[in-house]
Amino acid sequence: MTGATRGIGLAVARRLAAEGAQVAICGRNETLLEQVKAEHGFLGLAVDVAEREAVQAMIRWLMDEWGHIDIVVNNAGITRDGLLMRMSEDDWQQVLNVNLTGAFHVSQAVIRPMMKQRSGRIINISSVVGFAGSAGQTNYAAAKAGLIGFTKALAKETASRGILINAIAPGYIDTDMTAALTEQQTEWIKSQIPLGDTGKPDDVAGAVVFLASDDSRYITGQTIHVNGGLLI
Ligand SMILES: NC(=O)c1ccc[n+]([C@@H]2O[C@H](COP(=O)([O-])OP(=O)(O)OC[C@H]3O[C@@H](n4cnc5c(N)ncnc54)[C@H](O)[C@@H]3O)[C@@H](O)[C@H]2O)c1
Repeated sequence: MTGATRGIGLAVARRLAAEGAQVAICGRNETLLEQVKAEHGFLGLAVDVAEREAVQAMIRWLMDEWGHIDIVVNNAGITRDGLLMRMSEDDWQQVLNVNLTGAFHVSQAVIRPMMKQRSGRIINISSVVGFAGSAGQTNYAAAKAGLIGFTKALAKETASRGILINAIAPGYIDTDMTAALTEQQTEWIKSQIPLGDTGKPDDVAGAVVFLASDDSRYITGQTIHVNGGLLI
């Protein structure tokens, strides 16, 4: 579970633990990570998913601890919004590095053990923005759309080994990531959502639990949209 010190990632980690999974998390905020580990009894490391070698070391450590990894949720994500005309190379690159390359690093590190196990689930957290676009988020939209192509290609690569790769595309979910929106922006967004409200982290967690369960054993390469009807 990447990026699980708060928000959607924390809700997913808690739900998976409630379903009986042993959970390991990583995040960049070390203080918060230690708090969450202590509170929930998760394993965890302060690892930046953009750092390939740190990710590989984390997966080796988890394999030593557990001997197997059954479910991976690529959830770590950031935004660095701005119009394309003024977007710095750094804002472009950082968003791609965390949201897309991070999922590549983690998936690559776990795929060999999963292939040996002949089972495994990888669930990538994309976004409605990867499907619909959003002005001021060319970097984020590219990364999240990229994650969908990545999900489909890896699903085809690994299906014969019993590994299922799927994605979830949340709409507007109440977390720190969306807290920066003004009240006026939030009201406008709500007015665009057929179900009339923004989502909660647990709405996404429910979809992850489904994709991690035996109930989804015949589903791979797909995206579940959790957006209140924002994009139909
Ligand atoms: N909140 C929304 O409305 C929304 C909508 C669609 C998609 N998403 C996606 O859902 C995921 C979770 O979003 P959230 O709203 O909970 O965000 P958040 O900002 O509340 O949490 C992000 C988490 O990712 C971790 N993280 C960030 N960069 C990292 C890195 N380089 N390495 C490891 N961990 C890192 C943070 O420590 C934190 O735990 C993200 O991928 C985001 O793009 C969110």
